[in-house]
Parts: sequence; C-alpha cells; structure tokens
Amino acid sequence: MLTDAWPLFALTIETERLTLRLPRDEEVARLGQVAADGLHDPADRPFLTPWTEGGPQARARFVLQGHWASLGEWRPDDWALGLAVFPKDGSEGGAIGRVTLWARDFAVVREVTTSSWLGLEHHGRGIGTEARAGALALAFDHLGAVAALTEVFQDNHASQGVSRKLGYVHDGISRDARGEEALVSDRLRLTADAWRERKSERSAVTVSGVEQCLAEFGLRGPEA
Ligand SMILES: CC(C)(COP(=O)(O)OP(=O)(O)OC[C@H]1O[C@@H](n2cnc3c(N)ncnc32)[C@H](O)[C@@H]1OP(=O)(O)O)[C@@H](O)C(=O)NCCC(=O)NCCS
Repeated sequence: MLTDAWPLFALTIETERLTLRLPRDEEVARLGQVAADGLHDPADRPFLTPWTEGGPQARARFVLQGHWASLGEWRPDDWALGLAVFPKDGSEGGAIGRVTLWARDFAVVREVTTSSWLGLEHHGRGIGTEARAGALALAFDHLGAVAALTEVFQDNHASQGVSRKLGYVHDGISRDARGEEALVSDRLRLTADAWRERKSERSAVTVSGVEQCLAEFGLRGPEA
C-alpha cells in the first residue's frame, strides 16, 4: 500500500464544506487544469514567483512539477505539504485549489508558513478562510506549532482578508526582487494562543491519520 511507505497520503482534514489532503497524480492533473483556467484577474500579480503569468499549459505543468518536487525533496527537517482542497459535495468533480504548509526545522522552531490559491470562480465565498483554518488546525492542534506565518502583498485584499479574519497580526515587512522590481510584502503571524481563541473555527475541523505521519514532520524518530 502506498500509505504504508508514504503515510502522508492518509492524512485528511475535514472542515464544514471541504476535505484537504495530498492529491494523487490524476487529481494533481485536475488541479493543474484549475490553475490553467485562471486563479486571479490577469491584471493582478499576487505571487513573488510569477508562475501564473505563463500560458495555461505552463501553469498546469508548474503545479504538477511543484507537487512532485515537494514530495521528492521531502525531509523531516524541511518539508512542504501541498494539500488539495476538495469540496465535500463533489460538485466540482475534483479539487478547486491548494493550501500549502511548509517548515524548516519544525521540531525545534515550531513555526509553519502557509500559502494558498483557489480557482477564480471559487473566490469570495469563504473557502479560502475555511481551507486555511483546516491547515491551521493541523499545525496548531496536532503538530504543536507555536506560530503560523504568511507573507502577502499589501494590495492582495483577499489574502489579507483571510489572515485578518483568522486573527493574524502584523509582524513586519519583507522586500523581495521580482525581476527588476522591489516588492513589499506584509509579514503576518498567528500565535498558538490567538488560535486557541478561535473556538468556532477549531471545532469545525477534524484531522485524521496524523499519528502515523509524525515522523515525517520531524516529530518522532523514523520507524525502523
Ligand atoms: C487568497 C484566496 C485564497 C482567498 O480565498 P477566498 O475564498 O477568495 O477568500 P474568503 O472568501 O475566505 O475571504 C476572506 C475575507 O477577505 C475578504 N475579501 C475576499 N476577497 C476580497 C477582495 N477581492 N477585496 C477585499 N476583500 C476581500 C472577504 O470579504 C473576507 O472577509 P469578510 O468575511 O470579513 O467579508 C483567493 O482569493 C485566491 O486564490 N487568490 C489568488 C491567489 C492568491 O492571491 N493567493 C495568496 C498569495 S499570498
């Protein structure tokens, strides 16, 4: 069984309307199609890596290669978990977006960073907030994170809105180069104490299959 060798495939997060889990290859292909169809208004540039600015096929391939790279390069002290976002009612016939958590030296530092995207037609219905809450429940309530971070451009109102709703606070800025352009992002931080106050979001999330994945996150010595 694949899940014996790679238990992360059995890790599942359920929220009221969504299931978050690692996608299998055919499901990643479908996710690539979502990216190919468009994740944002073409006038917006929400990502530091301008991967959505290529053509549809380039976007789809970027999603596939990114998925395989994150699995292939996975290490307990340096990991990125790209969870596909599936509507529970199956109405879309597959995933509609992705929320990624990543960390370095998580066992020591206990901080995760998140990023996410949804197909354009699914924006503005609270799905981004619900998916982020699911990822945060995994990080805080099951992996013992002390803080979750995200970096977002100051004009990305939707992403800023998700973080604001979930109680993140401003934690400085970053300046990065995108080509010849210097871009400013807000660094936002949510502490475990602030997350514990979010009782309704927490109680709406169920996480299963995490126990057998703890070693993957560097939280227990690998099984012999
Ligand atoms: C960022 C993203 C995942 C947010 O998901 P979403 O489902 O659209 O967001 P939500 O519906 O949960 O909205 C969260 C809050 O932000 C607000 N918001 C959403 N879109 C907004 C917009 N375009 N302008 C202003 N506020 C906005 C919402 O009103 C909501 O707050 P409220 O409930 O108090 O009204 C999604 O918009 C997306 O995929 N964007 C393109 C990719 C991207 O920018 N990713 C993040 C890179 S850092």
